[in-house]
Amino acid sequence: MKFIHLTALIILLLGTNARISANAEGLLSIIPAPASIIRQTGNFTFSAKTKIIVSPLNSETKLSADLLALLVKNPTGQNIAVIQGEKPGNGTVFMVLDSSIKNDEGYILSVNAKGITIKAKTAVGLFYAIQTIRQLLPVEIEKSTVIKGIQLSVPACEIADEPRFAYRGMHLDVGRHLFPVASIKQYIDMLALHKMNTFHWHLTEDQGWRIEIKKYPKLTQIGAYRKETVAGAQKKTNNTFDGKPYGGFYTQAEVREIVAYAGSKFITVLPEIEMPGHAIAALTSYPELSCTGGPFEVRKLWGVDEDVFCAGNEEVFTFLQDVLTEVMDLFPSKYIHIGGDECPKKRWEKCPKCQKRIKDEGLKNELELQSYFIRRIEKFVSSKGRNIIGWDEILEGGLAPGATVMSWRGEAGGIEAAKSGHNVIMTPGKYTYFCYYQSENHDGQPLALGGYVPLELVYGYNPTPKELTAEEQKHILGLQGCLWTEQIQTPEILEFMAYPRTFAIAETGWTPDSQKNFENFVSRLKVLTKRYDAIGINYFKGEYRDTKAQKEKK
Ligand code: ACM
Ligand code: ZN
Repeated sequence: MKFIHLTALIILLLGTNARISANAEGLLSIIPAPASIIRQTGNFTFSAKTKIIVSPLNSETKLSADLLALLVKNPTGQNIAVIQGEKPGNGTVFMVLDSSIKNDEGYILSVNAKGITIKAKTAVGLFYAIQTIRQLLPVEIEKSTVIKGIQLSVPACEIADEPRFAYRGMHLDVGRHLFPVASIKQYIDMLALHKMNTFHWHLTEDQGWRIEIKKYPKLTQIGAYRKETVAGAQKKTNNTFDGKPYGGFYTQAEVREIVAYAGSKFITVLPEIEMPGHAIAALTSYPELSCTGGPFEVRKLWGVDEDVFCAGNEEVFTFLQDVLTEVMDLFPSKYIHIGGDECPKKRWEKCPKCQKRIKDEGLKNELELQSYFIRRIEKFVSSKGRNIIGWDEILEGGLAPGATVMSWRGEAGGIEAAKSGHNVIMTPGKYTYFCYYQSENHDGQPLALGGYVPLELVYGYNPTPKELTAEEQKHILGLQGCLWTEQIQTPEILEFMAYPRTFAIAETGWTPDSQKNFENFVSRLKVLTKRYDAIGINYFKGEYRDTKAQKEKK
């Protein structure tokens, strides 16, 4: 309740414009913009005597205290003490868990010359407050190079903050191309810096199976490698290939390392195991799981393959349940993503086993067979206390109970799911697919999958469709940007395609819709680019506006 009162008071005192976080000089350039912020005069300056007092100090709250201590130590070389304590002292950073704060991820941050106080309901809120402080401290904190005489000051302010949506995610396809563990960790770092909380890891594809599964070693011995890859932009016919074998995978040890790393930044890793389609790498390894028996080869072209898991073969369900058992052991996520998109029905139409299944189960057609497939998997996953997420095709033939829908072919699937009481994550390709170009002019840019998804378009996307009532809108858990990597071969290109569009998703996921403003966002972004430079990430620096929409308006 306290939180609401404070926010209301700030709104009353300042009016809407003053609550927007950045001023023209970018003094308080925070992305995502906090729900409410008041800039006050003065600063708090860290000194060798500054202590971080935490109440209570435990393994979770310590993560945030240690992070702040590390950021201060980076350019100063000073070790700041982190101690348990019940009240602030003079010149301290006081971090306290406060059950009167309503939102699990919310926090109140007060900075004045005497010290910093952070209140949060949970350790997550404390962590987000530290991300806010991080963005307010000089960029030198991002590097561990000691600078003699450097002063670390945070502008005095009063921030009351909480997210608009509970799900704020970024996806990464490692099936088409995979990236080093260090690069995945940096991707996670950038999500954390912008208060995002889910990393959707797309681990299996036609072009490569990327996660070690102990019970089925051929998945990575065979399925993780393709002979070569289509060169350049794929054409309908007459493609040329690069002649270079490509592949690799993440060992279970690496997966555990990434999950733990993300966990230390309060980020959930949502694993995706694709079924019944996008399964050629698995079928190359175990062709008996297909309708025809194969043989197959790990796909060298992009697109959709007609061969998929056989829905009439019991062995397929045994296999997938075994795989999911290992996956659930590796990933503590409440949700498990089972894909479900782009599954052609051509093989099922001809397959005696699939047709027998349709008959035995009293199904009408292959769409209902797909629904049977997903429902069976959903039942298994929910028997283990988890819930499935699937792409919006899982609506076809009837949605499995308890399934959450990721709406990618526009918003229609999400609207249908929300209307029927299912939870939804919005990822409409037109606004949230970062495999597409971000400017109309492609000069000097890496090849992309075509399309045009400029920053302004991403920023302007509102994930709560007007077609839904306020009650139905509650089923929209949030939104996500997606990074499909057919044309993304290196970490540098990955970063170029991801940033700054990811930060627009972060702001839509966090900041109240009424306070979003693109010009203001860009002015904060321009300040933050110095931080991104210090961190050492690559990002798109061209035209951020939607020039096509502007021309169409004229
Ligand atoms: C998808 O883009 N096929 C989910
Ligand atoms: Zn079949």
